[in-house]
Amino acid sequence: MIIDTHAHYDDEAFDADREELLSSLAAAGIGRVIDVGSTRESLPKIRELTRRYPFVYGALGLHPDEVGDLTEETFAGIEEGLSDPKILAVGEIGLDYYWNKEARDVQIEAFRRQALLAIRHGLPIIIHSREAAADTLSVVRELYGPGGPGAALPRKGVMHCYSYAAEQAGIYTRELGFFLGVGGVVTFKNSRKLKEVVAATPLEYLLLETDCPYLSPVPFRGKRNSSLNLPYIIEEIASLKGLTTGEVEAAAEQNARRLFPGIK
Ligand code: NI
Repeated sequence: MIIDTHAHYDDEAFDADREELLSSLAAAGIGRVIDVGSTRESLPKIRELTRRYPFVYGALGLHPDEVGDLTEETFAGIEEGLSDPKILAVGEIGLDYYWNKEARDVQIEAFRRQALLAIRHGLPIIIHSREAAADTLSVVRELYGPGGPGAALPRKGVMHCYSYAAEQAGIYTRELGFFLGVGGVVTFKNSRKLKEVVAATPLEYLLLETDCPYLSPVPFRGKRNSSLNLPYIIEEIASLKGLTTGEVEAAAEQNARRLFPGIK
């Protein structure tokens, strides 16, 4: 079974055909989906999707571009949702210094606060980090490294859409116990750095994701993405690692179930 560990089916890009598309996934071998929080408006939509579709799970949190909306009420709503067995993680949370929509200190504070919430609830986090390598690593080390409040957690989280160098990938995986999320970007011709990271990282640390509706793999780059495109990503990972697509699919499923044991 293929598991999409990072999707945004709550997005308005799916308003016209959400039901049809989600209902077509099982026949294509896509057995489970985790719909990940981004805006404040996404959160109730995710709760609704997880109630409507048995194979859809959720993560709740505010994306770094959206943390201006992290009021006490929104924070309390996220926390309340974490007791739902279909909510598997806090995310996507982190730092985005590319768009810089919120001040850096505000982003860092919201990242720490939401990560500490996940730690208190024994849940993993889904990290979004763009052009913020040093600050992201410093927050993750502080919270999950030796002596940190999350150091003893058996399931820490995933670096979604991993985009940094191979050396940091080793720190996140082997040293800090995080997974790396790999999606459509790995199929892009100009993503040499990510291809190197995937080739060098042991399969046991990789998760499959789409980030749909964004980041469609080749040959659909630029078009609306969906979980139906995961086979292109699996094929690329298999070719980079000299494995069969079946081996990649099976390992990725096992990894997803290890990080998110609430997936039934
Ligand atoms: Ni995302």
